[in-house]
Amino acid sequence: MNKSLDVIILAAGKGTRLKSQRPKVLHPLFGQTLIQRVLGSLVEVSQSASIRRITVVVGHGRDEVKHHLTALEDLESFSCPAVIDTVVQEPQQGTGHAVMQVKAHWEKTGQGSDIGDVLILSGDAPLLRAETLAQLVSRHKSSNHDLTFLGATLDNPKGYGRLLVETDSVGQERVLGIVEDKDTTPVQQAIQTVNAGIYCARWQTIAPLLDQISSGNAQGEFYFTDTVELAEKAGLRLGLSLLSDPQEMLGVNDRQDLGLCHRVLNQRTCERLMVDGVTILDPASVLIAPEVEIGADSVVHSGTYLTGIQHYGAHCTLGPNITVNGPVTVGEHVAILHSVLAGPVAIGDHATVGPYAHVRHDVTLDHHVAIGNFVEVKMAKVGAYTNAKHLAYIGNATLGEEVNLGGGAVIANYDPVRDAKHHTVLEDGVKVGCNSVLISPVNLKERSSVAAGSVITKDVSPWSLAVARGRQVELKDWVMKTLQKKKRNTSESSEAGQETPAV
Ligand code: UD1
Ligand code: CA
Repeated sequence: MNKSLDVIILAAGKGTRLKSQRPKVLHPLFGQTLIQRVLGSLVEVSQSASIRRITVVVGHGRDEVKHHLTALEDLESFSCPAVIDTVVQEPQQGTGHAVMQVKAHWEKTGQGSDIGDVLILSGDAPLLRAETLAQLVSRHKSSNHDLTFLGATLDNPKGYGRLLVETDSVGQERVLGIVEDKDTTPVQQAIQTVNAGIYCARWQTIAPLLDQISSGNAQGEFYFTDTVELAEKAGLRLGLSLLSDPQEMLGVNDRQDLGLCHRVLNQRTCERLMVDGVTILDPASVLIAPEVEIGADSVVHSGTYLTGIQHYGAHCTLGPNITVNGPVTVGEHVAILHSVLAGPVAIGDHATVGPYAHVRHDVTLDHHVAIGNFVEVKMAKVGAYTNAKHLAYIGNATLGEEVNLGGGAVIANYDPVRDAKHHTVLEDGVKVGCNSVLISPVNLKERSSVAAGSVITKDVSPWSLAVARGRQVELKDWVMKTLQKKKRNTSESSEAGQETPAV
């Protein structure tokens, strides 16, 4: 028997109710597409059962979906659980029809008889926990089932396929089939136990049933769900696992579902972080991606929006009102408030960012750095104990330790005529006065100083002061003399009988 597992992900549907130009499975959920989240949930399965291949059924927007899948396989920060193959379903005539296309593809390529168990997932159900899928597969294998699938009991089962279950004389429950929402009788509509659309099938016994499915139903589609009744009638072994957390089966069919998925994932992440010792003042007012790790005794304030891979050490203060896109690595005792950060960014212990700072793209702030009000930092390395606390721009630069940038200091890194960026270096202990402009590339050597208001175009020697502005001159009593002259002119003209114009 073949021990390896094949995975089919159904992703050909249009997602009409999203009213979007983007294919449904490419909609983002906390910075990852729906299909990436589904692929991510397979990582744990791949650790216990070796996944031979993941076959994604594509149809609507297939070029975009294929392109995205190739990009995911190449993405360094994402470990794809197996190689991905795609099969086109055109036209899209239902979930059973989608699986039929895979069957035809496998037969055509001579793989049909090689296939063991097949896990069938929906590309639009991104909330399934990795451990739930792993349990489904291991239960299917250990119980020697032909078809094992997931269900849940919902308060509002509308829209989902209902499970037809019979209880025999000894109280044993038996699934007889699944009836789709649009095909239900009024009595069946009241059934609250529904199909989650996630199956593990022994391919050699279930695949032949696909040929018996018909499209004689309310939607004129070939339903994969019909294989359940066919399998039951054929005397095959069926297994049903009910989800203890029904939210796991939530599928994205419209924008409300997409909003709800964000809320559910956020809630899960907040709960995990709080259990790990993080204070989140108001979980309903933050959005934190599942990829985020925060150390104990940190405090997260309202309006904190964190997406992508992020690691924060202990005792950090995050928010209020920050937007941080990973990848971001932050040490301990760091405070970030009222700011926007876009990774890659690395921040050392005891650093502070904000209020109202913008730190983006390839920035390293060493420990005890202070980046303050209205300061932007881009593509820069900033050494320990360096301060830029007000109204400064640091771009394409290396700053040593204990550097101080005064308010309004700007590194002019961009030459717009040649469209070139230049690099500037401020060595340890450099102090730059307020409103200075450093025209890159320049090198301010160790412990040098720049006088306020200077425009620096040349390197500055160690321990020296560079002054690059007009020297101050004083015109003695200029104000008084000017006013006296004005008064004289006014009285002369009125003596001459001229009218003074009204002001
Ligand atoms: C499906 C199940 C239903 C279950 C629900 C759980 C069927 C017939 N119904 O209904 O019992 O309660 O999921 O969420 O299976 N797809 C294709 N090709 C197609 C049609 C769909 O690839 O021709 C893909 C879609 O892109 C989607 C998945 O299959 O990812 C499910 O299709 P969808 O139309 O959303 O099925 P539901 O009506 O939600
Ligand atoms: Ca669906």
